[in-house]
Amino acid sequence: MVISADDYQAFQKLLHEKSGILLGENKQYLVSSRLSSFLKEQNLTDLSALLKALTRPGNDKLLQQVIDRMTTNETLWFRDGFPFDFLINTILPEQKANNKNNINIWCAACSSGQEPYSITIALDEASRSANRHKMPMSVDIVATDISSRILEQARNAEYQSLEITRGLTPQRQSAHFDLQADGTYQLKPHLKKNVRFSTLNLMQTPYRLGGQYDVVFCRNVLIYFASDLKIKVINSIADCLKPGGYLFLGASESMPSSIERFEMVRCNPGLVYRKRP
Ligand SMILES: C[S@@+](CC[C@H](N)C(=O)[O-])C[C@H]1O[C@@H](n2cnc3c(N)ncnc32)[C@H](O)[C@@H]1O
Repeated sequence: MVISADDYQAFQKLLHEKSGILLGENKQYLVSSRLSSFLKEQNLTDLSALLKALTRPGNDKLLQQVIDRMTTNETLWFRDGFPFDFLINTILPEQKANNKNNINIWCAACSSGQEPYSITIALDEASRSANRHKMPMSVDIVATDISSRILEQARNAEYQSLEITRGLTPQRQSAHFDLQADGTYQLKPHLKKNVRFSTLNLMQTPYRLGGQYDVVFCRNVLIYFASDLKIKVINSIADCLKPGGYLFLGASESMPSSIERFEMVRCNPGLVYRKRP
């Protein structure tokens, strides 16, 4: 698909306004590879026709479909390792020691579910270990993403053999998944039911999640956002965190220096941010 400079700029602006995603310069190939077949399905000749269609009233569904295709959903099991270890070995025992028995965790930008399900797997393993008495009684996990298409995959909790090998040991694969006749792996039902999924666009603040959280995972999404938006999102997440609550960012992401609502805690390896009381 050939994309004119004007159409590319208009598309960049629209995507940024609606999803926060900042497409760099010269990423026409990305737009082309992600949207070409969709445009054919929609009988739209090119990006210019899509932009016109998006300006018509009642275009919400089309816009959602475009955002679904433009998001980068790269994820894996137990990504970076330390957030899951620190959650199980430090945060949850600390909460339990403070007589908190019901913990709320929010995975913002959860993609196809590997992040929230890694948490349920880690919790399940901890509940069978010698340290089980250090775990709070109940842990509620809410997982959100802007893409309704990726959330559908997350809800199904069914993974291809290539996906299952990315971050899961063979022991974990056989302990927590059922191999199905078609060669896909289904997460065991008791783990699947521990996560509630819903659509949430991090651009739309304040977040109406109906509660305050003890721990938030917001990893590998803010890298796609401009710095002013990143500040707005982190402040809005802070509004949803209880005092003393923890925020995990991606391993390559850092807290903007203008935000003073968090203190940095070293996990060795890695970092987590604790909301100041
Ligand atoms: C690279 S994945 C990261 C998944 C997971 N957190 C991890 O670290 O493995 C980024 C996710 O952010 C989502 N995303 C992008 N823009 C978003 C927005 N404005 N609001 C919520 N989610 C968004 C994408 O749909 C995608 O699933």
